[in-house]
Amino acid sequence: MGRLLSSEPQNEDESFVSIRPLSLGEYIGQSNVKERLSIAIQAAKIRGDVLDHVLLAGPPGLGKTTLATIIAHETGGRLHTTSGPVIERQGDLAAVLTSLSSGDVLFIDEIHRLPHAVEEVLYAAMEDFKLDILVGKGPGARTVRLSVNPFTLVGATTRSGLLTPPLRNRFGMVLELDFYKVEELKTIVERTARILGVKIDDACAMEIAKRSRGTPRVANRLLKRIRDFATVKSKEEITLEIVEEAFKSMNIDEYGLDETDRKILTKIAHDYRGGPVGLNALAATVGMEAETISEVYEPYLLQGGFIARTSRGRILTTKGYSAIGESLINLGNSELRSD
Ligand SMILES: Nc1ncnc2c1ncn2[C@@H]1O[C@H](COP(=O)(O)OP(=O)(O)O)[C@@H](O)[C@H]1O
Ligand SMILES: [Mg+2]
Repeated sequence: MGRLLSSEPQNEDESFVSIRPLSLGEYIGQSNVKERLSIAIQAAKIRGDVLDHVLLAGPPGLGKTTLATIIAHETGGRLHTTSGPVIERQGDLAAVLTSLSSGDVLFIDEIHRLPHAVEEVLYAAMEDFKLDILVGKGPGARTVRLSVNPFTLVGATTRSGLLTPPLRNRFGMVLELDFYKVEELKTIVERTARILGVKIDDACAMEIAKRSRGTPRVANRLLKRIRDFATVKSKEEITLEIVEEAFKSMNIDEYGLDETDRKILTKIAHDYRGGPVGLNALAATVGMEAETISEVYEPYLLQGGFIARTSRGRILTTKGYSAIGESLINLGNSELRSD
């Protein structure tokens, strides 16, 4: 089930091309983000400027890549896609930047993972559309300044705080994506079902929305898995019975938590008597990378109120205990916790 949450865009998404909204109008939710983008895009058009650089921040699956595609579509620029870890050297970035035409959109996913030396070259490119490259080696080395065509950089990161301040400050707009409301996820499920030609009623769409952890990618994947169940049972339509059965077999509970989430909660409850526990200690106990916990699992556990962050670490809340079928009292833990 970890796959559902993976931050890696998976092959599955490829067949999702048609379900990816292509315009701001089709993009559901995030009204504040849409409004700010729409105004900036219109203003740039009126002035005949390229759109200011945009940083998109938010947990995996909330629609950052989709927005990058939409920005290119709405501005009429060509989209070039790359990612932080892929651009290893300054020369790699220079090659990308010099291939841009005026008004193109350069999307750098996981921009917080750009190597430091590459990031430094990016500063002047973002600010003045200039590229400073070092030619030669040793005492004879010198810097050559090249111009690049005006472009819009769209950066994506799981948390804007992961960026160095100089990089962050060079973005004209920092847009933070929030988890989606259940109603919005329901609309996304219904939209995807329509595109995939799946029949689904209100109640079923709602049930999927509720268990989607506030995340469109999860909503779409759950819908696809549930559609598989319906197909195998030769059912034309998704029914509540099928939905329940599918969730049971995927081990997803009423809150949308999967086995990994419950493992994290259980470890905090048992190994740390409800916390507080630091991220690294928790990661070691659960057997996962600290980064995966903090970027992929924790945001929803925090937002859903299953855990809380204190200055001394993570603690399990009353809701967190009930999600694993336990209570503070049963564990003989008298310490009171606030959710
Ligand atoms: N606002 C939205 N409305 C409809 N579908 C969305 C929305 N945001 C994301 N999606 C869908 O969710 C999936 C994941 O979105 P993506 O942009 O790849 O997320 P991220 O890049 O933030 O990990 C895509 O298949 C996309 O179609
Ligand atoms: Mg993405």
